[in-house]
Amino acid sequence: MTDLLLSDPSTLARDEGYWQRIAAQYDVEPGPINLEYGYFGRMTRHAGATYQQHIDAINRCNSLPLRQHFDDIGSVEIRNAAAELLNVPHASVALTQSASASLQTLIRNYNRLQAGDQVLVSDLDYDSVANAMRWLARQRGAEVVELSHPHPVTYDNLMQSYREAFARNPRLKLMPLTHVTHRTGLVMPIREIAALAREHGIDVVLDGAHALGQMEFDLEALGIEFAGYNLQKWIGAPLSLGLTYIAPARIGDIDPDMADSRFALDDVRSRAPYGTPNVPAWLTLPTVFAEHKAIGGAAVKGARLSYLRDLWVSQARDIEGIEVLVPDDPRLYCGITSFRFTRHADQAAMVQRLLNEYNLFTVGREGSACGPCIRVTPGFTTTPAEVQQLVDALRQLSR
Ligand SMILES: Cc1ncc(COP(=O)(O)O)c(C=O)c1O
Repeated sequence: MTDLLLSDPSTLARDEGYWQRIAAQYDVEPGPINLEYGYFGRMTRHAGATYQQHIDAINRCNSLPLRQHFDDIGSVEIRNAAAELLNVPHASVALTQSASASLQTLIRNYNRLQAGDQVLVSDLDYDSVANAMRWLARQRGAEVVELSHPHPVTYDNLMQSYREAFARNPRLKLMPLTHVTHRTGLVMPIREIAALAREHGIDVVLDGAHALGQMEFDLEALGIEFAGYNLQKWIGAPLSLGLTYIAPARIGDIDPDMADSRFALDDVRSRAPYGTPNVPAWLTLPTVFAEHKAIGGAAVKGARLSYLRDLWVSQARDIEGIEVLVPDDPRLYCGITSFRFTRHADQAAMVQRLLNEYNLFTVGREGSACGPCIRVTPGFTTTPAEVQQLVDALRQLSR
């Protein structure tokens, strides 16, 4: 805590003593160097033990605490804590089991789309989110407009591509917007795109899966009224937890869940898919939120991840045969960044070589209009020496 009080995030991001103490809070299986924290960020030992205690307690005590405390009181307290994490009114947040559950519900139950309208999906959106948009368009007789992002991408050509897409397609009504794309790690200028969308009467559903916990943001200031998040990536929660955000003034534009009759029509919790939640995971959230704050929150986590990213990207940019896909514009990047080997056609094979020959675990990503790539995502136990091993491997494999 003293470190936190004394240092600003960018200084703390470089303080290896601080990060060694953080890393000591995690159990890490010996094995390949993990540069794929984008799937699951890892719980601390303490969070894992707390989760296990809640599993055991619920199993021992069975339905009594669920019915007498959790359903009416405990779940509301935890939901409120989640809203405080997002810095939004309690009544605008519902807990769900994943970002996918949140986003699919927002899309499926969006009730303003009509026959003849258009929806926009892009090559950088998450597949299931884009598929949900296509599904909605089919159901309502709307048209799907597919947008490919410019490459190489800059702030200006990105904004221009949205400006042109909105101008070319005056019937657009709805679009997903991915805060941090899982394909390349590109960070979208959310506030600017959302403002442009609003000028054109287009509603935005924000996919914040990779943003929460590593980026600081204010949803109201961003102009976002619908959003879905998960908590297992950068918040450090157990798997199986997500959040739905609906701005209170827009609750009527998302229908309640088809199966729900527990909550009032204007209660955001009726917009979460019905089902018994993973109660022990929910009960672990206060511990996880306290840990998130203690580490320095998204400001410090994001600064550390970006610092580790800069360590390898700054060197990789000078390696012939390596193309880094995300620019160094601070508005457009975070800790996750993808690259490709330009002299090797098969990026999936190179992912395998990084693992087999260099003990480095990364992940191949396809689907961007600019082609397949390899995603690198450090975590809170990643060291600069591990990142340097990646750079050394890139130097050798790029030839
Ligand atoms: C950009 C993006 N959106 C949505 C999701 C889905 O999140 P969840 O697995 O919590 O449903 C992911 C998961 O990796 C993601 O990367």
